[in-house]
Amino acid sequence: MSPQLESKTFGVSPKGDEITLFSLFIKDQIKVSVMNYGATWTHLLLPDRNGKMEDTVLGFDDLEGYLQKDYQDNYCYIGSTVGRVAGRLSGNQFTIDDKTYHLPPNQGETHLHGGIEGWDKKIWAAAPFETDNSVGITFYYKSPDGEENYPGTVEVWVTYTLDITGKLEISYRAISDKKTVINPTNHSYFNLSGDFSQSIEAHEFFVDTDHYLPINENSLPTGEVAHVAGTPFDFRTPKPISEQIHKKDEQLKLAGGIDHCFALKESETCATLFHPGTGRKLTLSTTAPGLQVYTSNYLNQSFAGKGGVKFDRRAAICLETQHFPDAANQPEFPSTLLLPGEVFQSRTVFAFSVEK
Ligand code: BGC
Repeated sequence: MSPQLESKTFGVSPKGDEITLFSLFIKDQIKVSVMNYGATWTHLLLPDRNGKMEDTVLGFDDLEGYLQKDYQDNYCYIGSTVGRVAGRLSGNQFTIDDKTYHLPPNQGETHLHGGIEGWDKKIWAAAPFETDNSVGITFYYKSPDGEENYPGTVEVWVTYTLDITGKLEISYRAISDKKTVINPTNHSYFNLSGDFSQSIEAHEFFVDTDHYLPINENSLPTGEVAHVAGTPFDFRTPKPISEQIHKKDEQLKLAGGIDHCFALKESETCATLFHPGTGRKLTLSTTAPGLQVYTSNYLNQSFAGKGGVKFDRRAAICLETQHFPDAANQPEFPSTLLLPGEVFQSRTVFAFSVEK
């Protein structure tokens, strides 16, 4: 069946802008909703093995939920487009051509996920489109030179496309008028059970790689690209998350769970997430070199989300396709430098199925 598109008002921003919720859907198969505040992915309705459609990403029922102070104070970035640079940068800085750019801290002493007012809090221009076999929205934002102290005027386009087979693609395109760094991602929190009061530990997870990036006490990659063999980061065959996450391991202890980037190899499928209870399965592929996996270690019931549920630790898993964190300061990592005249591009495809 052909995918369809509809839109409705989702709320009004503090500055008085009307925020629109766009839904891309195929009846009884998938419904994806996104909004122009933060180019945020708000809903993902999928059938279970009995055909029951349920929401499988954390979020809020209306814009007010996203604006509430208790949520904003928690730096969770639920469903947000994160930029200019996802994650942390060591020393809150980076250097291009001998000039060091100091970035403002927003989470305690840390510059996280783009800073004080990152892309997650911007109002994006939205252009819905329909083709013969897809529907989608392109969000556009022009980030001024010096925003959050990053150099260059950056124009960025984030496109969500639902195709006739029910696959969702998120693609990124960006240009800059000066040398700068860029590493955007989407920060959705998945829980395929459809019940956000359930932990994701029963989900089976697979990542098609031998390598991950160990972190230091500041949650920054040490620079080592380590082999997963013999570590709790070995998901080379699908394993329940519960089987790995309770292992005695220094890296798990540092992050309170998994909060690590996997170095991807070129493969058709980079990861899968499967919930045996409902049969829902997500299959991920990407052009990005890394997959930051975060088992919502810092959620702590401090705000109410969809249906009034207070999201707890392990209520979800984030699968953030991106360049390696802190790549701007780690010359051995694939580069996040964007030069004038170049086009940054990245694509991630989410496919969904139901298994018996
Ligand atoms: C980071 C975590 C952070 C979380 C929420 C993840 O991408 O890796 O350390 O707590 O986002 O902001």
